Amino acid sequence: MISYYVPDMPSTERLIPYLKEIDENHWYSNYGPLYHKFKQRLSNECLSGIAPERLTLVSSGTSAIELALRNLGLKPGSKVLTSSFTFPATVEAIINADLKPVVCDIDQDSWLLTPEIAERNLVQNDITVVVPVAAFGMPVSSEGWARFHERTGLPVVVDSAPAILNQSIDDNLYYAFSLHATKPIGVGEGGVIVCPDKSKAEAIRKMANFGFEPGRTIINTGTNAKISEYHCAVGLAQMDRLAAIKQKRSDNLEMYVTQFRRHNIKIRMQAGIDTFVPASLYVVFERVDAGELFEQLLGNGVETRRIYWPLIQCFPAFKDEIIFASLNFKRAEEVSSRGLALPFHGHLTQSDIGKTVELVVRNLAAKAVSKPSINCR
Ligand SMILES: Cc1ncc(COP(=O)(O)O)c(C=O)c1O
Repeated sequence: MISYYVPDMPSTERLIPYLKEIDENHWYSNYGPLYHKFKQRLSNECLSGIAPERLTLVSSGTSAIELALRNLGLKPGSKVLTSSFTFPATVEAIINADLKPVVCDIDQDSWLLTPEIAERNLVQNDITVVVPVAAFGMPVSSEGWARFHERTGLPVVVDSAPAILNQSIDDNLYYAFSLHATKPIGVGEGGVIVCPDKSKAEAIRKMANFGFEPGRTIINTGTNAKISEYHCAVGLAQMDRLAAIKQKRSDNLEMYVTQFRRHNIKIRMQAGIDTFVPASLYVVFERVDAGELFEQLLGNGVETRRIYWPLIQCFPAFKDEIIFASLNFKRAEEVSSRGLALPFHGHLTQSDIGKTVELVVRNLAAKAVSKPSINCR
């Protein structure tokens, strides 16, 4: 079976020096020495050298989004505009921060919520903050969102969970990244918040540690969202092999694109794929039902995944929680129902990619189904 995803994690040998440091430090969580080292390397090697004081590392990408939203100090029930084409964590973080998710359709080519789409939906829906999503790790336009923030005065928290190797940072926006094992820099579980300034990052750091202030008092209710020293050890070992991780991902993309071109079949990839290597390789097949294709590929030993499917408003848990901004979700429905994420990870061989593309091509030639089939509103 060619697996959809096999995490690309450091070997035990690479971890040992960092685990020995933990042994010597006797410091296991609560912002220890490895936390600070990992933060410094992340900012230097992945986040264009921004001041590490603007970063807070936490226990997951989901808690990163929630804590960034909580840091805004909004009234409970304030409305948050986001994309209908995302992972459930986006909306769960919004709900957990006592805010109200408002969802809208996506851009046809980038599959993202863009500043233009957001601006069309602001006034009517009384939006107080926007959470654009870097779907599949394709970065959002930081320049575009900074201009949006300047024009509207609204805060922007980018759910850039899968995009740590691609997302540029603007000084006025918040960003939440995931370090889950399935992300390009996986540590097991973890998240990163980039704040507009150091004082906000410090407030989030306190919030992630029960809200404790110096002197052990608590002024604002917090939670426990700390990352352990062990996860930071994995992160440091990942930094040591960053060049190899990036190279492998880029080689994989190149192999897929070359193979697809050779067969000259009708597929759509996300705008930006020529510049950025995505976290997940999501392909939209014209006139094909993704559910059927999924079954056929699985039957032939290739595991794919329908990610960001169904649209977020279709989950029973969110049905009564979500407000619709768009009149229809045509683009999101099309991309969600006709697409599949193909195997895309550091353990794939050239022959795995060749086999996957051959099978896709063979199945596409044999099948052509008509309409996309989800509309749960
Ligand atoms: C768009 C998006 N947001 C948030 C998350 C949640 O990140 P984590 O699993 O680290 O909590 C994910 C995880 O896949 C994601 O894809």
